[in-house]
Amino acid sequence: MQKNIDAALIKKVEGIREELHRHNYRYYVLDDPEISDSEYDKTMRELIEIETAYPGLLRPDSPSSRVGAPPLSKFETVKHSIPMLSLDNGFNNSDIIDFDRRIKKNLNTEEKIIYTAEPKLDGIAVELIYENGKLVMASTRGDGANGEAITSNIRTIRAVPLILQESRKEKIPSLLEVRGEVFIDKNGFKKLNAQRMADNLALFANSRNAAAGSLRQLDSGVTAGRPLDFFCYGVGKTVGLSVESHWDALCILKNYGLKINPLIRSKISIIEVLDFYKELEEIRPKLPYDIDGMVIKVDDFSLQHILGTTSKSPRWAIAYKFKALQETTKLLDITVQVGRTGALTPVASLAPVNIGGATVTRATLHNEDEIEKKGVRIGDTVLVQRAGDVIPEVVKVVESKRNGTEKKFNMPENCPVCGAGVVRVKGESVLRCINNSCTAQVKERIKHFASKGAFDIDGLGHKLVEQMVNTGMLSSYADIFYLNEDMLQKLERMGQKSAKNLISAIEKSKEIDFGRFLYALGIRHAGEHIAKILADRFKNLEKLLSATQDDLKAVEGIGSVVAESVTVFFRQSENLKVVNRIMDSGVKIFEEIESGKKPLEGKVFVLTGALENMTRSKAKKNIETAGGKVSASVSKNTDYLVAGKSPGSKLDQAKKLKVNIIDESILEKMLM
Ligand code: IVH
Repeated sequence: MQKNIDAALIKKVEGIREELHRHNYRYYVLDDPEISDSEYDKTMRELIEIETAYPGLLRPDSPSSRVGAPPLSKFETVKHSIPMLSLDNGFNNSDIIDFDRRIKKNLNTEEKIIYTAEPKLDGIAVELIYENGKLVMASTRGDGANGEAITSNIRTIRAVPLILQESRKEKIPSLLEVRGEVFIDKNGFKKLNAQRMADNLALFANSRNAAAGSLRQLDSGVTAGRPLDFFCYGVGKTVGLSVESHWDALCILKNYGLKINPLIRSKISIIEVLDFYKELEEIRPKLPYDIDGMVIKVDDFSLQHILGTTSKSPRWAIAYKFKALQETTKLLDITVQVGRTGALTPVASLAPVNIGGATVTRATLHNEDEIEKKGVRIGDTVLVQRAGDVIPEVVKVVESKRNGTEKKFNMPENCPVCGAGVVRVKGESVLRCINNSCTAQVKERIKHFASKGAFDIDGLGHKLVEQMVNTGMLSSYADIFYLNEDMLQKLERMGQKSAKNLISAIEKSKEIDFGRFLYALGIRHAGEHIAKILADRFKNLEKLLSATQDDLKAVEGIGSVVAESVTVFFRQSENLKVVNRIMDSGVKIFEEIESGKKPLEGKVFVLTGALENMTRSKAKKNIETAGGKVSASVSKNTDYLVAGKSPGSKLDQAKKLKVNIIDESILEKMLM
């Protein structure tokens, strides 16, 4: 009788495990969940309850084991059966052309070499060993020959299958060593550091350090709480797997349920590799994770074999690195800027340093808490980071470079611009100047008002705004609409023509849609996105003005902080006066008609070849919904050619005209 119950229970547990493995795969590998998080949690709880009541049923590859195992006292060393080499680096196109030339020379051929090119993830290299489809060991790269066993830690990563999926096409090999990169995406990194800041812990300098720190935990329970992710990029030793090329190997791994980067470009020529590099460089800031270059690999395994390796790296692969976005330099001084909302921001003046092709002389230090946490002193050598279009920031101090002459910095007790008092609101880390008419605030508000996403007044640049506030010509943004040519000509270096142009630009800006108008007002917490939501919902100023805080809070996407900020703004008579003055000057606000974001606004696409995940007409519809246009033929007005399988002559035409060529996966990213 007892036996019978056990058999039924075992079957039940196996069923639950299988279900959880499947949902896990859909969620973490395919990014396409079938059930809600709470349903998943419920099933997981059920499994844990049974396993706790019957410890004999516990298995190391149970989905419940991802929450961490008992802490280790040290990591065991493991020898890699095939060394985990590093990569040779290239930094410009001619390094890559040389690489291609070297390969042809080594292979004694003039024929075109076929490559596979992949984004180079900036994380930590690991090896996973699957025996008969079960994950039995995971290790770090270590010195290449020997690594550290981090199996319990790797088990906590949801994107890593504990058991390989049976595939209709391929049999599970008896031994499969998978290699890949563990990383933390940008969002996870931001959240992790925010949490560490709140807990008063040292911040990670970058996502790579965060991934490394998370993997090297003796207590896998800590690792389980970190947002680690995984992409695989190759195989080590295998038994029972027959495959002839790198790309085919990746496809097989994908069929087993492992995660492969969707941006990988397979079987391309060296020229296409160079085009792909340009594309990757362009989309790099928009990717959800950090990449530091591209890895180019000879695709054919038999050619890889002939080429062989040096003691350090394979001759059949090279990393084409992007320009570094972090550099160290000297912090010469700290000044304090006053922003639109009165926030005092400490800014580092730096010894000029080239980061990713641009000279950087200033970097933000955010606020006094950050200075304290990072321990920044004047005279320090600091690591500075530039990412995409955002303002460069000081990441950390290189303490080993200190010589004792560095000076501590304290935030001022008064506004450095107007001398008024400063306050620190409870729960915030910023100091604010309390004087609403502080010239620094007025200037920043006007600059914001005239900026691109707001009234977009051509010619009303930062310098001019400073000059106009200093001379008393402007004391609020409403004053802009009461300027005339005579007044402007009184300004230094302002000619008749420029004055005329500026006045006509101001006139032109007077027709504005409601979202931009709201954004222009510079209401705290009401950025472009929130302004658009409010405009979509309330349509015009009158309706918004008569809305209560509760009405605002009831709008999806509007929280209590925004609701309060907006109602407080419109309750202040000062603000109402300014708004009325704007309206009296003849500004015309359009009601919002269209809603939704239009990420492809104005872009012209051409489609060629067969797409995998959408039909041509669906692709066309999606592009158009996102604001783009689809045209039938490639011309110099084309922004992107989307090339599917077996592309036609449009591809050649696009190459000739140097049109950006993208594949379906990039299009999908752009549509998101
Ligand atoms: S292949 C022998 N492919 O870059 C070739 N490596 O600088 C081994 N990396 O240790 C590496 N993305 O951690 C390869 N798609 C990719 C990669 C990649 C990141 C890392 C990996 C390696 C390092 C070499």
